[in-house]
Amino acid sequence: MSKKKNLRVLSGIQPSGALHLGNYFGMMSRMIKYQEENELFCFVANYHAMTTLPDPNTLSSNTFNAACDFLALGLDPEKSTFWIQSDVPQVTELTWMIASHASVGLMDRATSYKDKISQGIKPNMGLYAYPVLMAADILLFDSQIVPVGKDQKQHLEMTRDMAIRFNNTFGETLVVPEPDIEESTQLVPGIDGQKMSKSYNNTIPIFDSEKKIRKQIMRIVTDPTDIDDPKDKDTPLFQLYCLFLDQAGQKDLADRYDGKGLRYGDVKQELFEKVMDHFGSFREKREQLVSHPKQVYEILDSGAKKAQKVADEVLDRVRSVSGINYRTWHIESN
Ligand code: ADP
Ligand code: TRP
Repeated sequence: MSKKKNLRVLSGIQPSGALHLGNYFGMMSRMIKYQEENELFCFVANYHAMTTLPDPNTLSSNTFNAACDFLALGLDPEKSTFWIQSDVPQVTELTWMIASHASVGLMDRATSYKDKISQGIKPNMGLYAYPVLMAADILLFDSQIVPVGKDQKQHLEMTRDMAIRFNNTFGETLVVPEPDIEESTQLVPGIDGQKMSKSYNNTIPIFDSEKKIRKQIMRIVTDPTDIDDPKDKDTPLFQLYCLFLDQAGQKDLADRYDGKGLRYGDVKQELFEKVMDHFGSFREKREQLVSHPKQVYEILDSGAKKAQKVADEVLDRVRSVSGINYRTWHIESN
């Protein structure tokens, strides 16, 4: 019996590099769970990645790898709609139509643009218009809920702003989405204690070799506290380990940190085993997908087809109200 799915949930991730624990716990695992009770729309944002990845080899291989990541981590193409952004190019048309009604003042307030420039990324128009493309991603599918990490909060506010402005001009046309941001979850720390991020080179990757994962875990910064003194729990090793523990496990770990004789080397080894255990079956599945690209392409083709059907309906609505559908307007006004 097919179950009624409650809400349309949409999210995407840029194929900007190797997937890490921050991406997984911050966003992907939460997003994938939505497929059980809701209508999940999920895509790989390769047009977005183009703003920072000029090399075609990197962009194309990252895109394919990101698709394999999602599928390996449990995204089920039967239960959800999964595609590569550029396989539904309708999104670029909606981007233009929204851009033509979005205020430059709003764009100028985007902090992620300023952050990227301050990191030394060369400003380009794509980078500047990034929030409009993201709004189009969301609005093109009548999305109701958008699960993202905290760092995407402003982009979601901008999307709502653009949708409301569009609706005020043309009447109710676009669905105004609600963000789903887990405020209670802390950002996953990297091995140096800053936010885990590809750009900081401080990640624990999920699908890299065992050797590399081990090496990164062994590099997690710790303090020189004496073995018999209580240890600080507001530290990356403790926080990372807690991601893999239930409440009772977290309490045990906290007790060990408060007691005597705790060696950080042992904790790191345990964390390494937890990581391998947690992701073991996902890693196998991913290897299988990567070595059968045709199967992956088939999944992506059928996902793109499903997504295009919805996109065309929404785009038709937007074309009609905005006057781009000039023939209808011409006939009606004569
Ligand atoms: P990165 O910072 O490594 O480039 P992205 O910006 O591509 O990661 O993030 C992809 C998704 O993963 C976003 O929804 C983001 O909020 C989430 N995310 C990334 N890093 C973390 C982190 N350290 N903790 C929690 N969520 C994260
Ligand atoms: N900007 C998001 C990120 O970097 C990725 C993204 C692109 C996205 N389009 C989206 C997320 C639409 C949610 C909805 O993480």
